[in-house]
Amino acid sequence: MELKNVTLEKKEKVAIVTINRPKALNALNSETLKDLDTVIAELEKDKDLYAVILTGAGDKSFVAGADIAEMKDLTEEQGKEFGILGNNVFRRLENLDKPVIAAISGFALGGGCELAMACDIRIASEKAKFAQPEVGLGITPGFGGTQRLPRIVGLGKAKELIYTGDIIKADEALRIGLVNKVVPLENLMEEALTLANKIAENAPIAVKLCKDAINRGTQVDMDQAILVEAEDFGKCFSTEDQKEGMGAFIERRAKNFQNK
Ligand code: CAA
Repeated sequence: MELKNVTLEKKEKVAIVTINRPKALNALNSETLKDLDTVIAELEKDKDLYAVILTGAGDKSFVAGADIAEMKDLTEEQGKEFGILGNNVFRRLENLDKPVIAAISGFALGGGCELAMACDIRIASEKAKFAQPEVGLGITPGFGGTQRLPRIVGLGKAKELIYTGDIIKADEALRIGLVNKVVPLENLMEEALTLANKIAENAPIAVKLCKDAINRGTQVDMDQAILVEAEDFGKCFSTEDQKEGMGAFIERRAKNFQNK
């Protein structure tokens, strides 16, 4: 796996993926998006990883957006292609069969905020800043911002943030539900790892099916959604881990999940 701008580290059951292009505040050019896609493909294959942390190199920036230098001279067709490239990679991440936690140190702007929103859970440092500043550059958010921000914070707040391009601090991001938790910068990775390890202690297939039920179920009406839930709930009963989890409860002993 040859990567230029993304690193992958494995710590027991948890993967740490780092966008590593600090000279451009980890801005996403095509090369970085392709690296990220390669890493996601590797994560899809690895059955021994139960949770993923996605972060940006350095303390200053998570990701400062899509690469403006690369976008500057694009034609309409090329702009659409670049948007599709980013959207496909982010969608693949959103659909990854493991929970992904974004650990956001500093700037999460434009494509950076959009990348964080494609993750399941967002932990921010007190220094983190969020915005969809695209209209100030003459463009719309192009990596999912117009779609995921309203789904996360509601229509009115999303429209206000996207139409103004306002930058908000971590405490405001927490207040509007854009992030799950705000922690001191020096504790960011430790907090993310604690959360990832806590998730990894549970039955991995059940966690994976929870993600599937939430992601698929929230895209359809309630009558369809409860069928999605029933399907995933039923699948759990074909796993050894369900027998183990319930057996351990009944027998009052410690459980030992095998991801089977
Ligand atoms: N694209 C390309 N390069 C970027 C970048 C970006 N999004 N953000 C920062 N950089 C580069 C800068 O050009 C600079 O490079 P040089 O040293 O070679 O000049 C380097 O990173 C450091 O940046 P600054 O000197 O600007 O650092 P600062 O501390 O003064 O400012 C900042 C930090 C406020 C984040 C500022 O860099 C900034 O406003 N960046 C752009 C943020 C932005 O508009 N993001 C949205 C992009 S559009 C998008 O993402 C579209 C989409 O939805 C797909």
